[in-house]
Amino acid sequence: MNKDIQSIVLTEQQIKEKVVAAAAWLDKRYAGKNPLFISVLKGSVMFFCDLVRAMETPVQMDFMMVSSYGAGTSSSGIPKIVMDLAEDVTGRDVVLVEDIVDSGYTLQRMQNLIAGRGAASFTTVALFDKPSRRKVDVKADYACFEIGDEFIVGYGLDYAQQYRNLPYVGILKREIYENK
Ligand code: PRP
Repeated sequence: MNKDIQSIVLTEQQIKEKVVAAAAWLDKRYAGKNPLFISVLKGSVMFFCDLVRAMETPVQMDFMMVSSYGAGTSSSGIPKIVMDLAEDVTGRDVVLVEDIVDSGYTLQRMQNLIAGRGAASFTTVALFDKPSRRKVDVKADYACFEIGDEFIVGYGLDYAQQYRNLPYVGILKREIYENK
């Protein structure tokens, strides 16, 4: 285990089981359709790749980079679009893939943006939902795990751009982010 991790909360196997279940839910919902899956970078990258690979429905993919945390552990409230989509979403069935819905600012911004560009439908799938932290009234249509207020890293989630490549999800030791 990485020396900065206090404890593992989800193993690779536990994540995989939930990702496969999410893929089955999406396969059912999008059978016979041509959905456009959008990965909200960078956090969702691992989840996104595993999710689309576990699906049978052919999907198209696009990427958007949105950032609101800087180097801290709480949202700035102003998600910044660092890199926009390449595809036109007009008339498309869009599936937004997020690693985590925390304050909800990022999801709200994405929802408004995609709806404003004329998507036919919009569904959000998140790996983690932290409902106790919500600041705005948004909800993922499907969340693999509902969690409390722990600061977790791994499987795409970072602290100061580190720990994203851990294959598991763990709680960071407090000393790593306190007094920084
Ligand atoms: C994280 C995460 C979500 C967002 C959720 O992204 O990937 O996109 O925050 O938080 P919210 O509900 O409070 O808006 P971050 O801005 O840290 O960028 P990253 O994906 O590059 O890590």
